[in-house]
Amino acid sequence: MQHTRWYKDGVFYQIWPRSFLDGNGDGIGDLWGVCKKLDYLQSLGIDGVWFSPLYPSPGADCGYDIADYMDIAPEYGGMEAFRAVLDGLHRRGMRLIMDLVVNHTSDEHVWFQKSRRRIEPYTDYYIWRPAKPDGSLPNNWDSLFEGKAWAWDDLRQEYYLHLFAVKQPDLNMDNPRVRTEVKKILKFWLDLGVDGFREDVITFISKKPGLPDDRLSPASRGIRHYNHGPRVHEYLQEFRRDVLENYDCVTIAEAPLVSPGRALEYVRESGMNEIDMMIQFQTMCADCLFTDYIPRPFSLRRLKRAFTRWQTALDGQGWNLLYLENHDHPRIISRYGSEQYRVQSGKMLAVSYLFQKGTPFIYQGQELGMTNWRPDSCERYEDVQTRNARRDLPEDKRLALLHRASRDSARTPMQWSDAPNAGFTSGTPWFTVNPNYREINAAAQISDPGSLLNFYRQAIALRKSLAVVRCGSYREYFRASARLYVYARETREQRLLVICSFTEKPVRFHAPAGFSLPDMKLLLSNYPVGRVTGSSFVTQPYETRVYLYE
Ligand code: GLC
Ligand code: CA
Repeated sequence: MQHTRWYKDGVFYQIWPRSFLDGNGDGIGDLWGVCKKLDYLQSLGIDGVWFSPLYPSPGADCGYDIADYMDIAPEYGGMEAFRAVLDGLHRRGMRLIMDLVVNHTSDEHVWFQKSRRRIEPYTDYYIWRPAKPDGSLPNNWDSLFEGKAWAWDDLRQEYYLHLFAVKQPDLNMDNPRVRTEVKKILKFWLDLGVDGFREDVITFISKKPGLPDDRLSPASRGIRHYNHGPRVHEYLQEFRRDVLENYDCVTIAEAPLVSPGRALEYVRESGMNEIDMMIQFQTMCADCLFTDYIPRPFSLRRLKRAFTRWQTALDGQGWNLLYLENHDHPRIISRYGSEQYRVQSGKMLAVSYLFQKGTPFIYQGQELGMTNWRPDSCERYEDVQTRNARRDLPEDKRLALLHRASRDSARTPMQWSDAPNAGFTSGTPWFTVNPNYREINAAAQISDPGSLLNFYRQAIALRKSLAVVRCGSYREYFRASARLYVYARETREQRLLVICSFTEKPVRFHAPAGFSLPDMKLLLSNYPVGRVTGSSFVTQPYETRVYLYE
């Protein structure tokens, strides 16, 4: 089937189902809730939804530990509610993307239960090893979530590898039967009508043969022996050739520690179509080092370098996925913007990425300007990564770090209104609602023309109406500035100039050579702009403007 690359025209929205909207009052978000918000999504201008995992799961990693790949969890509404959502989206011209989590399963998956008991053909579905002759672990790799990467199984009397939580054993993708299972899963959902997959840590699926010790990486020990491993391309090509090829679907790879050069090995459009877009992490590291848990001061220059690197390196060869938030990171206003100038900085951040070249993703609540949740004790965090993170720190320092770094900050329930529990549930919410819902909620913003929500709607509509945003070239100006991010997009017919101030301080902006502000049309701004007389102005806090030459 022809690969039409329809996703290039789209804007996507990520739903993290547990916290989106509870439709039956049990305190857990579900697909009945999603059904009620399809018109909301459409009114935002969304073309597709990516669902974080909806499958049956014991919930050791909020659904990223899957116990059955071919069903929908009963608490989310089961298959019936899923079909209703799929139809509802398709009827409105929106697509649906599933999360495919096949680096690992839940330890409660029947494959693992049989593998522990050496029941064929499941014996080698996972990565089992005996202890070393001296009794030590099979190698020195670290788990990314808890302790070392090996857990002992009493039944089988061997260790199994888990790069994530103990309850997330890694699949042995070198086993052709496991790859056949993956292909069955892909086919099952595609035949049901889904439009593609976001593939969870898919760059981890091929481990270096022999699983050697890692003597180099100080943190995340082992990662150099399983990230972009020796057979990852072979496996992705197999999935493409045997299944994906027969459907006009999109594939998105989550790829920790990927450079643009490396990304092109997966997404090069003249290549094998292994993957269409990548979720890279470099733009999320402007205030941290590799992970949110090693903080450093926010640097706009670092952010701009990452933005521009990806814009230029992939240009004409691959396609970028653009995002500032997802379920794995704290809220962006609390990081790169300012809670004090919440609405203004939220609008500026939207502009900073929505007019780049690529397909933007918006994470639930981002369009409302939701901010980090800050509990009064480390014990109130639910997430397995957060609960195990930085146990070395004293309690008060640890709490301060979690406030800043925990992905639970972005997993509190959606703030729909100022009704009890933010209108998320009529029951007891599974997770704390951020107390700022009385001020920050969708209902208040829908009717306010100056709201962040309406700004997102406007920006998305604008993006879609302008060919230059889809296909124009990208050029950055004032690269050395630590306060302004300025870029232009250009086709033969149109030129767009995007100005973003990342500071509350006034900065004098001079239009770059070749741009005359009075001759351009102001398309979007987050402050009222009077008549422009010259090509220079002094910015307001977190000011943004988008100008067009036609
Ligand atoms: C990915 C997911 C994250 C999950 C991890 C393990 O990074 O986005 O939420 O915890 O993989 O599946
Ligand atoms: Ca529910």
